[in-house]
Amino acid sequence: MNNNYIPQIVVAISGASGAIYGIKALEHLKCHNIQSHLIISKSAYLTITQETTYSIKQVKSLATYVYNYTDVGSKIASGSFQTMGMIIAPCSMKTLASIACSYEDNLISRTAGVTLKERRRLVLMIRETPLHIGHLQNMLQASQYGAIIAPPVPAFYNSPENINDLINHSVARVLDLFNIDTPTIKRWNGMNLSHQSDLE
Ligand SMILES: Cc1cc2nc3c(=O)[nH]c(=O)nc-3n(C[C@H](O)[C@H](O)[C@H](O)COP(=O)(O)O)c2cc1C
Repeated sequence: MNNNYIPQIVVAISGASGAIYGIKALEHLKCHNIQSHLIISKSAYLTITQETTYSIKQVKSLATYVYNYTDVGSKIASGSFQTMGMIIAPCSMKTLASIACSYEDNLISRTAGVTLKERRRLVLMIRETPLHIGHLQNMLQASQYGAIIAPPVPAFYNSPENINDLINHSVARVLDLFNIDTPTIKRWNGMNLSHQSDLE
């Protein structure tokens, strides 16, 4: 039995639109005192800069550990390093394809492959629209290997008031998959029957 168990998760930010999902995931993990191991792809440097007000330095400072995208010799590239699993947020179609083909030529795809072979949780917040059949087939393949396909599709049942609410809800639902409860999440609590007459 391992008495020195430390809860830790790998977070990868790939170059799809929505770098903010990965950034918020890091912030949530920090609040939960869960160690995060961060990998940022080369293209994600562009999306972070283009889409968010965070500098790369600020994003890295949210993580407990940061790794170079090309460093396939780092500890998280080995199954012997124990983690709760991995979140790729957002997950580009290119990174999805590398997972679906087990093509492990960088630290994100290598660690994703390791996560699958060790039968740990691998959650892919894939982001593209519309999708062609190659994208769909890659999602099916990754899912058959054990990955969880979790596109950040906004929920409206919780009456979001702003973009932050939408982002945080999607991230909280992903953390649910690791049994990490986000107290601020507004969960579905049954129908509001105050407008029942509208249904009749
Ligand atoms: C601003 C910007 C937005 C992008 N949005 C997407 C996207 O939503 N989905 C996607 O699959 N690729 C998107 N791309 C393209 C990827 O960055 C590109 O395919 C890259 O090779 C992905 O590499 P990575 O998976 O190693 O990060 C975007 C690129 C840029 C610069």
